Amino acid sequence: MKGKDILSITDLEPETISVLLTDALELKGGRQRRIPEGKVLALLFEKPSLRTRVSFEVAMMGIGGSSLYLSPAEVGLGKREPVADVARVLERYVDVIAARTFSHQSIEELGNHCSIPVINALSDLEHPCQAMADILTIIEKKGDINGIKIAYLGDGNNVASSLMLASAMLGADFTAASPDGYQVKAEIMSQAEQYAWQSGSSINCTQDAGSAVVGADVLYTDVWTSMGQEEEARVRRDVFFPYQLNSELLCNAPESVIVMHPLPAHRGEEITAEVIESPHSVVFDQAENRLHVARALLLYLLGGLGVYSDA
Ligand code: CP
Ligand code: NVA
Repeated sequence: MKGKDILSITDLEPETISVLLTDALELKGGRQRRIPEGKVLALLFEKPSLRTRVSFEVAMMGIGGSSLYLSPAEVGLGKREPVADVARVLERYVDVIAARTFSHQSIEELGNHCSIPVINALSDLEHPCQAMADILTIIEKKGDINGIKIAYLGDGNNVASSLMLASAMLGADFTAASPDGYQVKAEIMSQAEQYAWQSGSSINCTQDAGSAVVGADVLYTDVWTSMGQEEEARVRRDVFFPYQLNSELLCNAPESVIVMHPLPAHRGEEITAEVIESPHSVVFDQAENRLHVARALLLYLLGGLGVYSDA
C-alpha cells in the first residue's frame, strides 16, 4: 500500500485490491475478525447517503469498533472552520475518517493535514469504495475480473472514473459510452490507459451506446445528475436520454450480461424499471457488497494484514 489514505482507487496497489476483495469474500462467507479495542471511525459527510454511511457504521460495529456520524450542518467543512483545522482536531479523537465531500480538493486537504487514514466515501472526482464493491460483485457473478468486458453508459462521473481505473488495474476491458462533453476526465483516462497497458486490458470511449453494449459481460450505469449538479438536471435529462439503459439496449448484449448500478437509481431516467427489476440486475448484491468491502477495508487500515485476529 502506498500510504494510509484511500482518496483514489489508485492509492491501493492492484495486488492490495485483490487481497482486500479476497478478505471481503471471506468475511461475507462468515469469517469473524476483529480490530483492536476502542477504535473509532468518524463519518464526515457533506452530502446525503444510505449505502455508504450504513455500510461503514455496520462494518465498524461488526469488527468491534464504533463510529460517529458528522452531518454537513454540524461541521460546515471549510465554512465554519478550515478543512485543515477539522482534520487536525479529528485526528486527536478518532482513528480513521471516511469523508464524503463535494470537492475532491477538500478530501485531499483532510488527508494532507492528519496522520490518521482518510477514506474517500465519494467526492466529485471518485468513489473508490463503490468500485471495490462493484469489482467484488463482478468476480462473484462472473468468476473473475481479468478479461471481463464492462460497458458503462452515461455520465463520466465519480463512479465511472473509479470503476474505469479499477477495471484497468485488474485487467478488465472498459468501454464508456458518454455524450460529448460528459466523458470521463482526460487525466483519469490517461491514468487508466497506463494501468490497462500494464494489465493487458483496454480502455475505450465512444458516443455510441448501441455499439458499446455488444459483447459486454457487464452493463453499468449511474445517475445523470450527481449530487451537487441539481441545477443542470433538466439539460442533462435531454443530453443523456440516448444513453438510457432500457430493454432495447439490453437486447443487443449477450443473454448472460449482468446489469449494475451503484444506487440510488432514477427509474425512467438512466435505467428503466423493467431493466433494473430484470433477472439481469445485480444491484442489491452490489449494494450488499459495500458492507463486506467496508469491513475488509477497515480491518486492513485499523488492524493491519496479519495483525487482526480471528474472533
Ligand atoms: N452508492 C452509494 O454510494 O450510495 P449512497 O449515496 O446511498 O451512499
Ligand atoms: N454519481 C453519483 C453517485 C451516488 C452514489 C453522485 O455523485 O451523486
